[in-house]
Amino acid sequence: MSEPAANSASELYEHFRALDDPARYTPEACASLAGTIEAIRRLKADRRAVILAHNYQRPEIFEVADFIGDSLELARQASGVEAEVIVFCGVHFMAETAKILNPSRTVLLPDLRAGCSLADSVTAETLEDRKAELRRIYPDLQVVCYVNTTAAVKAVSDVCCTSSNAAHIVAQLPTNDILFVPDANLARHVQSETGKNVIAWDGNCYVHQQITPEQIEKVRKHLPRVKVLAHPECRPDVLALADAVLSTSGMIRYARESEASEFLVVTECGLSDRLLLELPEKTFYKSCKLCAFMKMITLEDTLHALEEMRFPIELDPDVAAGAERALRRMLEYSA
Ligand code: 13P
Ligand code: SF4
Repeated sequence: MSEPAANSASELYEHFRALDDPARYTPEACASLAGTIEAIRRLKADRRAVILAHNYQRPEIFEVADFIGDSLELARQASGVEAEVIVFCGVHFMAETAKILNPSRTVLLPDLRAGCSLADSVTAETLEDRKAELRRIYPDLQVVCYVNTTAAVKAVSDVCCTSSNAAHIVAQLPTNDILFVPDANLARHVQSETGKNVIAWDGNCYVHQQITPEQIEKVRKHLPRVKVLAHPECRPDVLALADAVLSTSGMIRYARESEASEFLVVTECGLSDRLLLELPEKTFYKSCKLCAFMKMITLEDTLHALEEMRFPIELDPDVAAGAERALRRMLEYSA
């Protein structure tokens, strides 16, 4: 679990200077944030709560988080939480995953509008229809669902995966024929990594889909030594230009361990913020877009979540049991 990085308003102001966003993190804004951060830390202790935050969250959320990570790390972390309450600063499918893997804990999502348009691009009903259609052609077809799906979709899939273990899991499945839902870019990446017949669903992440190869080429022309780190939800022509295709936490590890000093971070902007704050000795260029869903979670709403114990994640027990099977299988394959 990470330690809080800054306490007073002036410390916070100094800390956030690394973000190079003076219009947003003014001394006044930092004073207000510091007060809310203190209130959250106090209430966390009173409520016996922990805060889990995804790498795309706002920098001020990192200050109150007990753990920050990618989808796989957060799922693993959530399953071992002993505190009574998990406040999940991320999007709905992540909070749902935490509840499925640790059902006796209260899991709160500070803003229920924090969904994921990629997760919404497949429903359990449409998946069942497509599965039945394809099983007539490929009798041993297995359905692999990206973690960015609803619990209902996980419940009708054979196994779940995240951006950090997708190829590893597909490679281990006892079949050559895979239906991969819902991210088509990740599906193509997995196909090229495994050589299996990966049939893609027609979904994509609106954030990563906006990033074009021209944007990357332009930066490379001016910075020939830059290492390009891209998330596998990016288009194939963007991934083809990357030095490494990694999950969000994979990018942090790569940048930390690499001898290179300049990186172009091709994913949502929250990850660049985390890198700027944690690795000040290196230079990070942003080729990033904001995820409106991730940014719906604010520090104020996180405080209100703890004050009013809102909004608890509840699941239908049958759906939860089916989704848990797909998630546990993922954890076994990626152990
Ligand atoms: P990671 O699992 O790599 O953190 O990705 C989550 C996500 O939603 C990417 O858009
Ligand atoms: Fe969903 Fe894309 Fe936002 Fe990730 S970045 S939560 S895939 S909309």
